[in-house]
Amino acid sequence: MKKKVISICTIGSLFIASCTSNNTSNKSCSKDGDLNPNGSSELSLIMRKMAAHLADNRDALKAGKGIVAAPKEIDNLLTAKKTDEEIDKTIYDGYAKLYQQRIIELNETADAPDSLKIKAHNNLVSTCRDCHSNFCPGPMVVINQLDIK
Ligand code: HEC
Repeated sequence: MKKKVISICTIGSLFIASCTSNNTSNKSCSKDGDLNPNGSSELSLIMRKMAAHLADNRDALKAGKGIVAAPKEIDNLLTAKKTDEEIDKTIYDGYAKLYQQRIIELNETADAPDSLKIKAHNNLVSTCRDCHSNFCPGPMVVINQLDIK
């Protein structure tokens, strides 16, 4: 009897573990860009532009220059085709809207002191990190280099 209970628990915890790891697995994104047989998804192309934008913006702000305009493709963040359309839409859409909002906030700092530009920049990087802690964890290494310390 005792054995049976233990094995049920083991099966139960394995199940929970597989659910959790599934959430953050690389299946939600194309690893290294083009492993996906259909080529890069529309979203992964937008993500690369977003990463390039924040790298340019980081360098510009560190050099005391103005903010760099965001790629217009960010408008399509909520509708772009993903590698994995099964990812949690509520979580994804929530962070996608927040990212768009924080781009507006960054643009509003155009005439503000550098400290506010840097704060708005770092808020964007946090949003990359927050969304990626739910999906597609691979790019975290890239994301962690975008903060202005
Ligand atoms: C709303 C959630 C969300 C936000 C915010 C977000 N990402 Fe992503 N990111 C994803 C998802 C989902 C994928 C997988 C895309 C796919 O393969 O269809 C992805 C993919 C990527 C990739 C891999 C692209 C490739 O070559 O396949 C990189 C790099 C990346 N994101 C970087 C970033 C950076 C940098 C930021 C902030 C500027 C960011 N992401 C913000 C959800 C997000």
